[in-house]
Amino acid sequence: MLSRLPARVVALRAKVFEKVNGDNAITFPNAQVGPERFEELYGHPAANGRSRGAGLSDLFWYWLSPGPEVHQEHLEAGPRYDDVARTTRTFLAGSSEALAALAARCTAHVLDEVITERVTRVRLRDLMMPVWAEYFYELVFGEPCPREARDLIVGHADDVVTSLKCTGLRHPARRAKLTRYLRERLPDVRHPLPRTLSETEQVHYLQGTYFNTAVVQMSEAMAHLLLALAQHPEVAERIDDDRYFAHVLDETFRLYPLFGIAHRITTADISLDEQTTFPAGSVLCFNYPAYHATGYADPQRFDPDRWQSTAARTAHHIPFGIAANRPCPAWRLSPLAMRAATREVLRRVTLHSPVTHTRSLPSRGPCLLVRDGRVPSWRLTLMRVRDRCEDVWLSVVQLVLGTAMVLHAHRLRLAGRYFDTDREIS
Ligand code: HEM
Repeated sequence: MLSRLPARVVALRAKVFEKVNGDNAITFPNAQVGPERFEELYGHPAANGRSRGAGLSDLFWYWLSPGPEVHQEHLEAGPRYDDVARTTRTFLAGSSEALAALAARCTAHVLDEVITERVTRVRLRDLMMPVWAEYFYELVFGEPCPREARDLIVGHADDVVTSLKCTGLRHPARRAKLTRYLRERLPDVRHPLPRTLSETEQVHYLQGTYFNTAVVQMSEAMAHLLLALAQHPEVAERIDDDRYFAHVLDETFRLYPLFGIAHRITTADISLDEQTTFPAGSVLCFNYPAYHATGYADPQRFDPDRWQSTAARTAHHIPFGIAANRPCPAWRLSPLAMRAATREVLRRVTLHSPVTHTRSLPSRGPCLLVRDGRVPSWRLTLMRVRDRCEDVWLSVVQLVLGTAMVLHAHRLRLAGRYFDTDREIS
C-alpha cells in the first residue's frame, strides 16, 4: 500500500494542476488526437499562445518569478519575443569544441572540490548545479565564475526547482539576492541585451533564462543521465563512443523527458479535420512522457540500443520540443555540454545507486561516487531502504505543499492580473 503511494500522489497532483486550468484544458495524446497527429497539432500555427488565458500560467509565473512576464518561455509571440529569442541564440552560440571544453572545465573544477574520499555520497542534481552555474555565468559574463556569484545562482536555481517539484516552498528573498547582484553586473555582459526590455526586465531576463532555466534543466538532465549510467554499468562502459553516447542520451530523454506537460493556448480556431476542431482560447496540454511511450517495443525499458534501428527524427521523440513551435534554444548546446561533463565524471569515478528512478526525481538522485570501483553492499542496501522511506515521505510533502502553492498562486493571479491591465506585451 505504502509503496504505491508516491505514484498515486503524482497522479493526484497532475489532476490538481489540470483542474487549475478550468474546463477548456485538453491533454494529448488522447482518443481524439492520438500520437500519430500529436506533432501536427503541437506544430499548428494557431497553437502559439503562451500565457494569456490559461489558469495554469498563474502557477508557472508564480514558480518562475521574478520576471515571469519576460521569461522567453512565457512571452507571447511578437517583436519583444523575437528580440529576446535572438539574444538567447547569441549567448548560446559558439563552436562545439569551445562549448564542450567549458563544460569539461567547470565539471572538473566542481568535482575536484567534492570528491575528497574514496566513496563520496551525493545527490546528483545538487552535484551538478554548481557546474552549470559556473558554465552559464561564463557564457554570460565571459570570465570564470566567482564563488559568491555561484552560491547566489545555485541558491536561486535550487529554490525554483524545489518549489516546481513541490518538495519545498519558494523563497522570494533568496531569489532577490541574485536579482540585486545581476543588476550591478548588467554592464558586464558579453552581448547586448534585448533593447525592447527595460533595465529591470533585462535583469529578470538574465536571471530567468541563464540562472534559472539553463541551470535547472541541465542539472536535472545530468541527474537523469548519471543515474541511468549508475544503474546500467554495461552502458556506462561504452560511452566513449560518440554514436553510442547519442543513443544513451536519446533513451534517457525518451524515458525521463524534462517536460511533463507543455501547454499552448490557441489564438485562433484549429481544425485538423471535420471532427477534430478546437476553438480559439483552448488550452492544449502536450504530455511528453505519454507521447514518448508510444511507438516503441517495451517502452518502459531503458534500452539505448533501440536507437540503432530508430531514427530520432522520425520517432515519437521531442526532448527539446517541436521545431515548428518554439523549440528549446539550447537544442545544440545541451548534448555537447552533457557529453563533456559525463566523460569528466566517469574519468574519475564509477557510479552506484539503487534508488528509484522516476521522471520527477524528487530525491534529486542519491548516488555513490566511487574512486576504485568497489563499494560495500551494506552501503547500497542502506541507501535503498532510506530512499524507499524518503519516497513515501516526499510524496506526502509534495501533495501538501503542491496544493498550498496552487492555492497561493491562484490567489496572487500573477499572469491574470498582468493581462487584466491590458498591457501591450508584444
Ligand atoms: C537537456 C537540457 C534541456 C532540455 C531537455 C530542454 C527542453 C526544452 C523543451 C522541451 C522546451 C520546449 C517546451 C515547449 O514547447 O513549451 C524548451 C524550451 C526552452 N528552453 Fe530548454 N531544455 C534544456 C536546456 C535548456 C537550456 C540550457 C536553456 C538555456 C538558455 C534552455 C532554455 C529554454 C528556453 C528559453 C525555452 C523557451 C523557448 C521559446 O519559447 O522560445 N533550455 N526546453
